[in-house]
Amino acid sequence: MGDCTNGQFKAIRPAARVAGQRQDVWTIVNDAAAASPVKPIVNMGQGFFGYNPPDFIIEAAREAVTRVDANQYSPTTGRPNLKAAIAKVYSKSLEKEIDPTTEVTITTGANEGMLCAFMAFVEDGDEVIVFEPFFDQYISNIEMAGGKVRYVPLAPPPGGDHSTSSSGDWKIDLQKFKDTITPRTRMIVINSPHNPVGKVFTRAELEEIGNICVAHNIIILSDEVYDSLFYVPMTRMATISPAIRNLTLTVGSAGKIFYATGWRVGFLIGPQHLIKYVSAAHMRICYSSPSPLQEACAVGFAQADEHNFWEDSRKSLLGKIKRFTEVCDELGLPYSMPEGGYFVMVNFAKVKIPEDYPFPPHVASRPRDFRLSWFLTVEFGVAAIPPTEFYLPENAHLAENYLRFAICKEDSVLEDAKSRLRGLRKYM
Ligand SMILES: Cc1ncc(COP(=O)(O)O)c(C=O)c1O
Repeated sequence: MGDCTNGQFKAIRPAARVAGQRQDVWTIVNDAAAASPVKPIVNMGQGFFGYNPPDFIIEAAREAVTRVDANQYSPTTGRPNLKAAIAKVYSKSLEKEIDPTTEVTITTGANEGMLCAFMAFVEDGDEVIVFEPFFDQYISNIEMAGGKVRYVPLAPPPGGDHSTSSSGDWKIDLQKFKDTITPRTRMIVINSPHNPVGKVFTRAELEEIGNICVAHNIIILSDEVYDSLFYVPMTRMATISPAIRNLTLTVGSAGKIFYATGWRVGFLIGPQHLIKYVSAAHMRICYSSPSPLQEACAVGFAQADEHNFWEDSRKSLLGKIKRFTEVCDELGLPYSMPEGGYFVMVNFAKVKIPEDYPFPPHVASRPRDFRLSWFLTVEFGVAAIPPTEFYLPENAHLAENYLRFAICKEDSVLEDAKSRLRGLRKYM
């Protein structure tokens, strides 16, 4: 067990919670990039931005790092400035006055915030339901807390191999969801706008899911990190009813909102009886989150309206979606038109990979989308993510013709991707 780097030392046994990690999708995509003769790669794989946050937020960060108080520990639940600014913005969209002192906690990215929520409520053997495809970090976060993951698949639009449709046409089987609940179910994770599908769950869908959770007293972790990017009306889980609000933790990410994923500023909002335990876990895991970047994000939230940030951001990302999907329309490749977020799922059923194409064994043995991703990266220098990584093996067939493209890149990069993808014609 374990690595023995030079044979001189006894092997160290890792804890089960981090051992046995198989080669992850990001490594496979990076290997394909390294193997490609086309350089540089247009990387539309990982969802990081290809450009900076707006100037007023960068300026705020610059100013914050010069301040003595902003370079020291923050209060464990977050800096009062940031909590107040978030409470003000979210009081509107959550349709309730949010108390910044008791109903908001700041975390080191949404990811650590969700880990804190699992640490706060999941005991050994408790179950947490997630919908496939899922954001991969949910799984290890739940398992690190001792939880068991239960899965419910989101099915693609029935005609997805042949025609473009809305990402809203990806559907949850509610009966399957009900059947997956057991007396050990403590939490569900719901993600809207959804990564990778781009679906914004309708009020009716959320209401049904939320009411089922109320009936079983299940905590709802509502991952809304793409909440600033909705292109259809968006309902927030917590607004549906007082009973649902009482069980809902809304997850946000200042990093996603302000194009600063490396700043690691996230937050959870919810009723005090839940938030206080999330804060307790966060205090033990991180103690507190980066102070100057919290200050900068506080300015971001406080001044977003006067800079017209919300509207500009939506327009900009929707513009990028439209710019990128032009090439799919040209090629006749169907896709799911995102209702929110910045990922586009494109369907490559029509693309025929040469039968004798030399895939490395670890790619050849994975579902078709892994082979598509490898082929696209090596042959055309465009990297995209195979979404079956975010399904159980038995449900992988649902998404094996799709690839996920992150469009949060400079327009020139998107244009480059488009001209490279036109080369696919000869494989169709
Ligand atoms: C659905 C979803 N939730 C949460 C996160 C994590 O956000 P953060 O970068 O704030 O940790 C991501 C990041 O990709 C995501 O896609």
